[in-house]
Formats: sequence, C-alpha cells, structure tokens
Amino acid sequence: MAVTSASRSPVRVLIVGAGAVGCFYGSRLHRPDADTGEHVLVSLVCRSNYAAIVERRGVEMRTRAYGDYLFSPEFVFPSIAAASEKGIRWDYVVVTTKALPDLGDDSSVVSPVATPQTSIVLIQNGVGVEEPYRRRFGADVQILSAVTVVSAEQISPGIVVQNRWTRIHVGPFVKGRWDQSGTVIGENGPDHLAAKRFVQMLKDGGVGDAEACTEQQLQVIRWHKIAINGSMNPSAVLSNGTPNAEMTEDDELRHHLRQCMEEVFRGASAVLGIPFPPAGLATADKLLKSIGRNTGARPSMLVDWEHGSRMELEVILGNPIRMARERGVEMPRLEAMYGLLKMAQKRRDEKVRDNKERHLQTKL
Ligand SMILES: NC(=O)c1ccc[n+]([C@@H]2O[C@H](COP(=O)([O-])OP(=O)(O)OC[C@H]3O[C@@H](n4cnc5c(N)ncnc54)[C@H](OP(=O)(O)O)[C@@H]3O)[C@@H](O)[C@H]2O)c1
Repeated sequence: MAVTSASRSPVRVLIVGAGAVGCFYGSRLHRPDADTGEHVLVSLVCRSNYAAIVERRGVEMRTRAYGDYLFSPEFVFPSIAAASEKGIRWDYVVVTTKALPDLGDDSSVVSPVATPQTSIVLIQNGVGVEEPYRRRFGADVQILSAVTVVSAEQISPGIVVQNRWTRIHVGPFVKGRWDQSGTVIGENGPDHLAAKRFVQMLKDGGVGDAEACTEQQLQVIRWHKIAINGSMNPSAVLSNGTPNAEMTEDDELRHHLRQCMEEVFRGASAVLGIPFPPAGLATADKLLKSIGRNTGARPSMLVDWEHGSRMELEVILGNPIRMARERGVEMPRLEAMYGLLKMAQKRRDEKVRDNKERHLQTKL
C-alpha cells in the first residue's frame, strides 16, 4: 500500500509566542490535509491574545504573499504548562517571542516541552540568542537557528498582517553539542537534516525563499542583519522616530549609519574569523541604498519604544558589543547608543511604575 501523508504520523509543531512572526510561519507550516509532503499539525502557545484567538477560532491572516485566510491551529494553549499537559511529543518547538534576555530566560519557558526528540527552532533577531538554550539543555536537545526578514505585525489580538517580503534562513546550532567536527556535524548530520526538513516543510507551505544553511553561514547572516538592526533601530529611536529611509537622506545621519555598519562588520570579522561582509553580502553603501529605497519602513525597536514595550537591546546591541569586545574590538557608536537607550528605557519604566503607584495611592 502506498504511504500517503494521511497514513504517516504527523509532524507536530508547537509555536511559542503567537505574535506576528509565530502566526505567520505557523500558518504556512500547518498542513492538516496535505496531499503531498509532510502532514504537519501546528499548535500555538499564546499569552495576551489567547481569548481573542479562541473566540475567532484561529488567527485572521492578511498576507501580501498568500492573500487573506483563517489559520486554525490544531490546539491553542493559554500557557506552556497547558501544552505540556497534553502529553504530545513535539517534533519542533518554534520560539518566536521577542528575544529579551534582560527580562528572563526564555529557555526556561520551553523546558517543559523540550525532549531529546525535539528540535528547538529560534526565529528571533539578534546574535547570541542560542546560548541560553545550549546552557540549559546541554548536548541533549537539537537547536536550530533562523533569521527572517519578513515584515509582519499583529495589528490587534488575533489579526496578523504581513506587509512585504518573506525570506528565512535556517541552520543548525551545534556548538556545545558535538565536540569535534565529524560526520555528525556535516551536511548529513542529524542537526542539518532537521534544518533541511524544517525548510522543506516551509517550502511545502508555499514559502519559496526558505533556505537551509550551515551553522557558519547562519551566523554570518545573523551578523549581517545586525549591521542593519544595530544601526537603524537605535538611531530611529534616538532621532525621535525618524523612519529608515529618511535617516539615510540626512548627510550626518547617513555618515553615522555607515560608521555603525562598519563597526559591526569589524566585530563580525573578529567573532567569526572571516573577512566581513563576505562575497555575496551587501556592503554598508549597498545596504544604505536599499534601505533608502524602502520608504515608510520603521524599525521594530522604534515601534516597541513608542508602545512603551521592552526593546530587544541586549540581542541587537549588548551581545554583539560584548562578543566583539572579548576579541579586542570596540564598537564606540553602538556602545554609546546601547548605554543611552538602556538608561532611557530604565527611566521610562521607572516613571510608569511611579505613576501607577501614585495613581493607586490616590485611589486609596
Ligand atoms: N515582525 C517582523 O516583521 C519581524 C521581522 C524579522 C524579525 N523579527 C523578530 O522575530 C521575533 C518575534 O517578533 P514579532 O514581531 O513576532 O513579535 P510579537 O508580534 O511581539 O510577538 C511575540 C509574541 O510572543 C508572546 N510571548 C512573549 N513571551 C511569551 C511567553 N513567555 N509565553 C508565551 N508567549 C509569549 C507575546 O505575547 P504578549 O502579546 O502577551 O506579549 C507575543 O504574542 C523578534 O525577535 C523580532 O525581532 C520580527
């Protein structure tokens, strides 16, 4: 008898962090009625949008690439504990929370659902996001690292809009898992195969530009994205909300942005041990040119700042600065922006807390 996708056991995927990126990629991976390829069942762990998603019976997706549709996951959980109680052996646990190591260790969040059979996939911005997971799980758990340039947002609870682009690279993070190079970390090692399988599942779901890469290639892409995020994001906040393209049109700011990118390139070169950017990846001038063409784009850090939310300062600035510094490379522009924004965020949060306390006292 031919093995159809329906007769094979499904691939179970748990998305932790049902926001813009989680719902977007979750909705493409979910293929409950697949005729070809893998039969994939996606579930969501929600937080503030749990009630809205249950009420809508799924997530309303408004996408540029695939039109409008309702994404109805297999299960919607209000917490990781609820997902764990279900007793499912998850093949992939995909982490799509904002990476905020200054608030807490997300690796402890996924601990109840991670088994040696699980691949943890981190689709988050920044560098150094994998380390806390490796520290917690040791060599037992497979970690995949992913970088995306999708432009998506959750415009209200349970409604996700994808504005432009989908591009995602996925690679293994074997550091600390396999001690010596050998077949296990080669192209046919289990971690690479898990990355390739995940990419194939995305492709089956219509994400044509998903690409599997090696660990080194993936880290190169992470650092190259830091050249954009580490320069544009903090500068947009510090210039009082200037959109990306407008920043590149101002002579002084353009010079500053180019210098920031060059700093990141020097740091990346020291950390990764290769000339940076390697052939095929855009130089600072090319990046600035393409950012200048993308009018209206506002970095996520600016949106977070305006909403009074935590900014991903540690993974976009703090980690790169510390990693480069360990290798003797300073990044003075990034260091200045990091110090200023960390303090601005602290004072903003203190002010909010004080106001709340004052409000409470007046009510009493
Ligand atoms: N959006 C983009 O276009 C884009 C593009 C490239 C890269 N990225 C990166 O992708 C990552 C995710 O970004 P995003 O835009 O999808 O963020 P997002 O829309 O804010 O989604 C994050 C989600 O995670 C949830 N969450 C946080 N902690 C949780 C926990 N402990 N348990 C369960 N849920 C939790 C949040 O819930 P609450 O609502 O309750 O906080 C929120 O729903 C970030 O690293 C970002 O920089 C985003």
